[in-house]
Amino acid sequence: MNVVILAAGQGKRMFSALPKVLQPLAGKPLLAHVLATARALEPGLICVVYGHGGEQVREALAAPDLHWVKQEPQLGTGHALLQALPLLDPTVPTLVLYGDVPLIRAATLRRLLEQAGKGALALLTAQLDNPHGYGRIVRNAGAIVRIVEEKDTTATERSIGEINTGILVAPTDRLARWLPGLGTNNAQGEYYLTDIVALAVADGVPVNSAQPDANWEADGVNSQTQLAVLERVHQRNLANELLNAGVRLADAARIDVRGELHCGRDVFIDVGCVFEGRIELDDGVEIGPNCVLRNVVVGAGSRIAAFSHIDSAVIGAACSIGPYARIRPGTQLGDSVHIGNFVEIKNSTIAAESKANHLAYIGDSSVGQRVNIGAGTITCNYDGANKHRTVIEDDVFIGSDTQLVAPVTVGRGATLGAGTTLTKNAPPDALTVSRARQISIATWKRPEKKRG
Ligand code: UD1
Ligand code: MG
Repeated sequence: MNVVILAAGQGKRMFSALPKVLQPLAGKPLLAHVLATARALEPGLICVVYGHGGEQVREALAAPDLHWVKQEPQLGTGHALLQALPLLDPTVPTLVLYGDVPLIRAATLRRLLEQAGKGALALLTAQLDNPHGYGRIVRNAGAIVRIVEEKDTTATERSIGEINTGILVAPTDRLARWLPGLGTNNAQGEYYLTDIVALAVADGVPVNSAQPDANWEADGVNSQTQLAVLERVHQRNLANELLNAGVRLADAARIDVRGELHCGRDVFIDVGCVFEGRIELDDGVEIGPNCVLRNVVVGAGSRIAAFSHIDSAVIGAACSIGPYARIRPGTQLGDSVHIGNFVEIKNSTIAAESKANHLAYIGDSSVGQRVNIGAGTITCNYDGANKHRTVIEDDVFIGSDTQLVAPVTVGRGATLGAGTTLTKNAPPDALTVSRARQISIATWKRPEKKRG
């Protein structure tokens, strides 16, 4: 089959510089959702009709399997499909999708394609309590005879609850005859794609229908309000998938997945977490409340405590992270590593059983096993021009409030005294300390406030 995605509409009601079909739903452009569903059907061709902000859309979603057709000016849905017609294979049916209807499901479209068979026209329709604004399906003794747009309805037609979702499958050779003949004699002065229904009836082409499993599948996005509603619908669906796979969620209504979240067995996720990119949580992982994870792998049994932010990192098994940990790109933690509150780690490896429990910055470092990094420890990795590495070998103990001025190496088993500013390598097994000697002045008098 051919797939044509209509995406030329301006989306004025979004009040945004970003073209409507690039507005994100679950972190992904609306049109990307539609493309993913279209691809799942393995069509012979996918054609996107674009218009306003089109170059930006093309750039954002460029892919070798897509054909792009510009519609300029936009004279209606019939005119939009006409622009794609020269590209379409006339021997197979054409499925028309909307770039701003992101949640349509492949299973529904397969049913619609079945209804179309080889030569019929098939419309995806829905029964709505409030059909206002939609084209209505006019039937005669059960058979569909035409679609009437809201603005062209009579009072009786306005009371029809069955609406046109806009999604349809049509015999392509017939489209080649119908589309060029459409007129604009209607309330909006547009070329209505919906007028092909009456033409099909006149030509004796059967007009069938199918319905989505849920009406939200056919909901379009015209405003930030509608986008927000669909975001919640989609997130609830994703949460249900996680629950069905055995993931325990503190509240299925308070999780946001903006990418792919893969979970092992007995994973628990507390409220308010955001998952972006590709995330893997191995068996028994627990994520505390209000964490943000982006492109992260977390090993079995690890616990991420509240308010931690982890980006592009690999966390080993049985680790304890947070609360309030910040783990930045390029970080790899071994097994049983402890990272505590207000610890920032960037582009560093920390091997098994090492700990940095409070208030530290570890950047561009290689940290060995069983290392203890005291509170307030800072790697001074940046000299204002270049970044340098810090190497901390196995079994090192770093006292609190230490600065390691990179490039520098702390040898295996070394101890650094609290307050040390390390500018030269520290030898293994020894105590290294750089600190002004402590003195006490017994005769010192505290200044007193002058009176009168
Ligand atoms: C259309 C249908 C209506 C249906 C409704 C469902 C027609 C005439 N009417 O109405 O029966 O109930 O959708 O939401 O088809 N587009 C273009 N180029 C254009 C015009 C539109 O690409 O010149 C695209 C839009 O980007 C959008 C889709 O087509 O993705 C629908 O356009 P829209 O203006 O929303 O159509 P409606 O008037 O809502
Ligand atoms: Mg619309």
